[in-house]
Amino acid sequence: MNIFITGGAGFIGSNFIKYILKNHADYHVYNLDALTYAGNLDSLWDVESNPHYRFIKTDIQDAGALDEILAPGSDAVVNFAAESHVDRSILDPQAFTHTNVLGTHVLLEAARRAGVKKFVQVSTDEVYGTLGSTGYFTEESPLLPNSPYSASKAGADCIVRAYHETYSMDVNITRCSNNYGPYQFPEKLIPLMVINALHDKPLPVYGDGQNIRDWLHVEDHCQAIDLVLHNGRPGEVYNVGGHNERTNLQIVQSILSELGKPESLIQFVEDRLGHDRRYAIDATKIRNELGWTPRYTFEDGLRETIRWYVDHRDWWENVQSGEYRKYYEQQYGSRLGARS
Ligand code: NAD
Ligand code: DAU
Repeated sequence: MNIFITGGAGFIGSNFIKYILKNHADYHVYNLDALTYAGNLDSLWDVESNPHYRFIKTDIQDAGALDEILAPGSDAVVNFAAESHVDRSILDPQAFTHTNVLGTHVLLEAARRAGVKKFVQVSTDEVYGTLGSTGYFTEESPLLPNSPYSASKAGADCIVRAYHETYSMDVNITRCSNNYGPYQFPEKLIPLMVINALHDKPLPVYGDGQNIRDWLHVEDHCQAIDLVLHNGRPGEVYNVGGHNERTNLQIVQSILSELGKPESLIQFVEDRLGHDRRYAIDATKIRNELGWTPRYTFEDGLRETIRWYVDHRDWWENVQSGEYRKYYEQQYGSRLGARS
């Protein structure tokens, strides 16, 4: 099988490339990534000399490049490429429409021209909006995105769905909850808090810290995408989540306790605009249809992930470029005041 993985230098994409090469050793994997601030080839150091793996620097908005790369009749495209951080979408919303909506459309159209057999769109539970204190998102929940990021992902989902309805393209959409694990960019909650705690810097918790996310280890997400890629019914959406609901404050307290750091490092700061209160996924469909079950317990996965960041200081120091430092100052400077 020839698989074209876009955004393969990012957090989930790089984990997925390793998952595929490990579990399907005869497959050929092409990593198409534009290498934005979030793309990092260091995350793929252990596969770069694998003869079944090839990196091609590509922007998913570049139709000409995609036409040259996607060989006619290729087996599959799995689209991870995206602007993925909600806070950045509040600072610069249009960048998200360009990459996530237009980029997905250009890629989908190139895949159609090339007669690609399967197109998997890696989407997010955030397209469903926010929940109250009870209930779960199912595949039938209405799309009610609240941030420019989630709106752009919902837009992409609609275009992917339309290509199935209109052109009978074999597509699937996966909608997963929050991922954690190795190689996640330090702008996201868990790595940001681990790294700040290691530096004895304040841990900026938005609002009252009671917002709830439903956490899943990245390897469990990769297994779900692999099952959808091989066995997903054409045109279907699959939710993915492991029933690990935690408040943000609980996450931060667990990190501090694991690292032996004091809770006095926690600082409640101005809330995120339009901050979704709770996400929780009903993953019954993927369990029943495709036999997916997560392997990690949240406690083991979080402990392992914290240790990974402690042991891979070089990786996260390298990605904290000038661009990241500028972003950090813009996002947290006035929130944390002199303590940032
Ligand atoms: P990430 O930000 O770590 O990585 C995104 C990757 O896409 C980077 O390597 C970047 O260089 C690349 N990219 C950006 N624009 C591109 C373009 N125009 N052309 C080619 N490559 C481009 O993101 P992630 O956390 O790994 O998320 C991957 C996908 O999974 C995203 O589509 C995201 O919406 C979705 N998702 C993420 C989570 C999560 O918790 N992280 C959960 C559910 C779904
Ligand atoms: O639900 C899936 C989504 O999960 C993915 O689609 C996104 O790509 C991914 O970034 C993630 O979005 P979130 O906004 O939930 O993740 P983030 O790590 O940015 O924030 C998690 C929670 O922690 C959220 O409620 C905001 C809060 N938070 C985050 C940061 C960075 C803080 O309190 N302080 C912070 O400094």
